[in-house]
Amino acid sequence: MKVVHTIEELRDQLRGQLRVAFVPTMGNLHPAHLALMKLARQHGDPVVASIFVNRLQFGPNEDFDQYPRTLASDIEKLERERDVYVLFAPNEREMYPEPQNFQVQPPSDLGGILEGEFRPGFFGGVSTVVLKLFSCVQPSVAVFGKKDYQQLMVVRNMCRQFQLPVKILAHETVRDADGLALSSRNGFLQPSERAEAPQLYAALQTVAAGVLAGNADAASLEGQAVQALTARGWDVDYVSLRRQRDLIAPASQEILDGEPLVVLAAAKLGATRLIDNLEICKK
Ligand code: PAJ
Repeated sequence: MKVVHTIEELRDQLRGQLRVAFVPTMGNLHPAHLALMKLARQHGDPVVASIFVNRLQFGPNEDFDQYPRTLASDIEKLERERDVYVLFAPNEREMYPEPQNFQVQPPSDLGGILEGEFRPGFFGGVSTVVLKLFSCVQPSVAVFGKKDYQQLMVVRNMCRQFQLPVKILAHETVRDADGLALSSRNGFLQPSERAEAPQLYAALQTVAAGVLAGNADAASLEGQAVQALTARGWDVDYVSLRRQRDLIAPASQEILDGEPLVVLAAAKLGATRLIDNLEICKK
């Protein structure tokens, strides 16, 4: 695997390549990231991964400084898997040599809801860096995880609206055996919090089971989930039932009619904020 730190070296490595498959990450790689790279391998050649902790997508009071930076062990993991041909690991000066004044502003009905409501500017920061990374890597395919469901939709919509010639592939959420979705932030959990953490997914499963049993009262399903988590000590930002296609809250008739839905949640356990989601299909 070639590790490059500048855009110029990256371009040199990729000159003439027309089937690049790209997996952007912020590093601290775990098995879910590696699974995305395996999927990329099946859909393009060469596979390029990036590791860049993108300041633009962190709020002033968020964990940018604390975000784990583990480049040496990330490189070891990628070398072991042998799926990635080029790792692009720019520093901040390389990606943002001057203040990034041109930025992508996602529409508020997609970028301002759910995560966007609790993390103002987050999807603008994500979209901007993804567009810039796409422009550096010029992939034909890029892989994103469903764990970050809204991010996946924002990226897909951005590509469609800007006619970016990149096909976006989604990888299913990768979970630990107890149901907890893998995340770099899981490493922040204290042992007792780690034991509690799968309850977030359990709450989503309870909402899904309610819908599948014919309950079309979204507010009560969401409210029960929030209450159950709060009673266990979680600080819940949202549990929300939405339509898969546009993340709009479904009418009860749509729930009854089998509209494809997804229930999304974000909640803090101690100092650590976790997100998760679960797709619900009746048919
Ligand atoms: P990061 O959190 O490092 O995630 C990189 C990719 O891995 C994203 O597409 C994310 O959805 C996926 N991923 C993480 N955990 C996953 C899991 N348990 N199952 C499936 N996929 C998972 O997401 C980002 O970085 C950044 O916002 C980025 C897109 C790189 C822009 O800075």
